[in-house]
Amino acid sequence: MTSGAGRPARWWSSDEGKAAARRLGLGESARVALSMGVIYQVYPRSFQDTTGNGVGDLPGITSRLDYLSDTLGVDTVWISPFYPSPMADFGYDITDHCDVDPLFGTLGDFDRLVAACHDRGLRLIIDWVPNDTSDQHPWFQASRSSRDDPKRDWYVWADPKGDGSLPNNWLSVFGGPAWEWDGATGQYYLHSFLASQADLNWRNREVRAAMFDTLRFWLDRGVDGFRIDVAHFIMKDPKMRDNPPAAPLDERMFKSLGEYDSQEHVNDKGHPDVHGVFRDLRALLDSYPGDRFAVGEIHIFDWAEWAAYYGDDDELHMPFNFSLVWAPWEATTFRERIDALDRVVPSWAWPNQVLGNHDEARIVGRIGPDAARVAAVLLLTLRGTPTLYYGDELGMPQVEIPPDQEQDPWGIRVPGQGRDGCRTPMQWTPGAGAGFTTAGRPWLPLTAEAHRLNVAAELSDPGSMLNLYRRLLALRASEPALSHGGYEVMRDAPDGVMAYLRTGEEGDFAILLNFTTEPVLVELERGGMVAVSTDPERDGAPVGSSFELRPDEGVVIRLD
Ligand code: GLC
Repeated sequence: MTSGAGRPARWWSSDEGKAAARRLGLGESARVALSMGVIYQVYPRSFQDTTGNGVGDLPGITSRLDYLSDTLGVDTVWISPFYPSPMADFGYDITDHCDVDPLFGTLGDFDRLVAACHDRGLRLIIDWVPNDTSDQHPWFQASRSSRDDPKRDWYVWADPKGDGSLPNNWLSVFGGPAWEWDGATGQYYLHSFLASQADLNWRNREVRAAMFDTLRFWLDRGVDGFRIDVAHFIMKDPKMRDNPPAAPLDERMFKSLGEYDSQEHVNDKGHPDVHGVFRDLRALLDSYPGDRFAVGEIHIFDWAEWAAYYGDDDELHMPFNFSLVWAPWEATTFRERIDALDRVVPSWAWPNQVLGNHDEARIVGRIGPDAARVAAVLLLTLRGTPTLYYGDELGMPQVEIPPDQEQDPWGIRVPGQGRDGCRTPMQWTPGAGAGFTTAGRPWLPLTAEAHRLNVAAELSDPGSMLNLYRRLLALRASEPALSHGGYEVMRDAPDGVMAYLRTGEEGDFAILLNFTTEPVLVELERGGMVAVSTDPERDGAPVGSSFELRPDEGVVIRLD
């Protein structure tokens, strides 16, 4: 096989793919990232319920794999946590890292899911949550049982200050101080999130060994990698110094987290020792056969510090790039952010793009349904791995959750921070339960638009968001220029337009994105043909030396 059309993402794992990566000057992190292709995030509570209890489960995901591999055409499935949990933070509060919560199924169901993914050529990555455990985890139960317990040091305990006040000024992301008093043993423990999510002490070698064993457990079961939850949080300042105050946040450019933003978070996370952990983790992944991948959830907006998580091609394969998630929908801002990341991602490393996930308002809710179509073109044509969030391919809206149905502990504690609106059930068919559940009431309400925005209805509508995603994914899969070709921004694009070239030996493409609601004329050096437009009627249209973009239009032009 050549590096030509129709080559699956997994080709990067073959000898030929390895040689091609070297020719392109890419390192191992990049090659492995490329072998994951396009990633699709499944929030398991909300994908497919097979038991009729209104909550999704693992057999449900297995039953929908044909949709992911064939109908949609993604390459890797990432599943958010399904581990045993009291569900205080919907599974991010874990009591056993090596099992499946009965709500979601069994280990046997998990094994069947891995096998079913691999049968279809899909890869499977799972969430790994190293920063904290549930306070119900046996490790924490032991740790809090007495100051002399062998596991006492597995968590971050601290004495009050001399005047009886909190050990330092660190805050919980979910509101209030990050310290919880334990009356029985007379010390505070650290929790970067809920008080029922106690932070592990990663400076303790036994913790590191035990947590690495949990990785082995899943690697041995065949997973292709991990999404590492709040990866940079695990190492804190060993002296536990206060955080300094922060400059006011520019709320137009970044999402506000309220009181949490009042501090510069230099001491409560991201200590440089974190890189040693990820080097060890990478060595562990590399010791397994096949390509095993790690992508970190890293909310760092100092780009040089963020890029340090690629290491020297020996840490994470990629840190998730959240730079575009809350960027205002303006061509200049997007171009500047994309340029800024381009400058810091090492030439041998592989970039990636994210527009949504289970923690952020839906893209349609943030920028509107028309602009979200343009954003889909951007996501699937920029250089780098795209991660799709389930339901965004249907244009699912941010759902208004009535206060009495609110579930998210963050939203309940800090008004305005609720994440339920982006976690509502996947919409498969019109009618009650949207094909997600037979329960009268799913765990979160469906949008009123579920009868229109669902897989079945959208498949039969050529102009639907789903068909736009399918056209873009098919093009990306068959065109090397789009999956791993060169990227060059067209700096002379008119105001309100972001334009770039994707180039490769087998053809070049121009991507023109109109961020405005007015028509705009774009001059081109070469003509060609529309390969995909947000407006399907334009597909196949010839293009001359200029192209008039319609309002809210994004086009991919195959250049002559
Ligand atoms: C990560 C998860 C988020 C969770 C938090 C605390 O940010 O993505 O959903 O609430 O960690 O566990």
